[in-house]
Amino acid sequence: MIPKDSMVLLVSPRGKRYLRRFDPAGELHTHDGKLLMAQVAEAGFGRTVRTHLGKPYQVLKPTVHDLIKGVKRHTQIMYPKEIGYLLLKMGIAPGCRVIEAGSGSGGLTVALACYVGETGKVYTYERREEFFTLAGKNLARVGLEGRVEQTLRDVRDGFVHTGADALFLDVRTPWEVLEHIPAAVIPGAMTGYLLPTTNQVSDLLRGLEQGPFCDVEVVEILVRRYKPVADRLRPEDRMVAHTGFLVFARCLEAEREDLAEDADGENAPTEPLGEPLESAQDAPENGWDAPETPPSGEA
Ligand SMILES: C[S@@+](CC[C@H](N)C(=O)[O-])C[C@H]1O[C@@H](n2cnc3c(N)ncnc32)[C@H](O)[C@@H]1O
Repeated sequence: MIPKDSMVLLVSPRGKRYLRRFDPAGELHTHDGKLLMAQVAEAGFGRTVRTHLGKPYQVLKPTVHDLIKGVKRHTQIMYPKEIGYLLLKMGIAPGCRVIEAGSGSGGLTVALACYVGETGKVYTYERREEFFTLAGKNLARVGLEGRVEQTLRDVRDGFVHTGADALFLDVRTPWEVLEHIPAAVIPGAMTGYLLPTTNQVSDLLRGLEQGPFCDVEVVEILVRRYKPVADRLRPEDRMVAHTGFLVFARCLEAEREDLAEDADGENAPTEPLGEPLESAQDAPENGWDAPETPPSGEA
């Protein structure tokens, strides 16, 4: 049995996909005929049901990827390829509190809400009322509105929430928001940004250089799909060549003014604290410690 209000994906014989919040008393009207949801409930996930015209429909449990693709969009939404990487990179997991702006159509918001789970929360900011409303509707369509708090506000004026574990900005000028981030997140929190052009990435990097940000990464993710035909396996003719650049940086605690003054003034330490740092040239290229493998021949 499929529980009421869970999400269901129905796929037609020609591959048309219908994403619905499940109501066992409902009906789905398609070009292939009528499908009774009572029949779908009885069949369950992974089975096939037939319309009154005898056409077979697959009954599937949607993945987060399906939920994102099902978002009704009036803005560009983030692609799953970028969302997948940012979820790992930013450590989004059950119980996380995440701040995000702008909500847009709510594509990323849906994914974040899935991953923070029942015990986490997504705080999403949007400055335009029409997109604020649209994102709310898209969240309600998939039953995730309870995990999200929406705020209608321009984030260049700052955030009203504090103590977030992670913060992501999909806005045109994120460098105008950086000054407000330390007050919104816990020290060391991961922050992320999506930008469509390299000029914007440069502007953001200049902003991040002002601190208190570190551990900066700029990445572009390309996905090349193949036609899944065993005897003629080859890439699809067209690919989405460009969506955007992802930038990540950790946000450290902002330097306290009293300590900053001390460092310049008469209370500044005269002795170096601890061992001098290793020269950057000695560090491995990827920033990680080299694995502790013995030199070859000694294993
Ligand atoms: C490309 S859309 C975001 C799409 C969203 N990430 C998704 O996956 O559906 C950018 C949104 O940011 C909003 N926005 C731009 N600047 C903003 C700001 N300073 N404060 C709040 N929202 C902003 C825009 O109104 C727009 O709705």
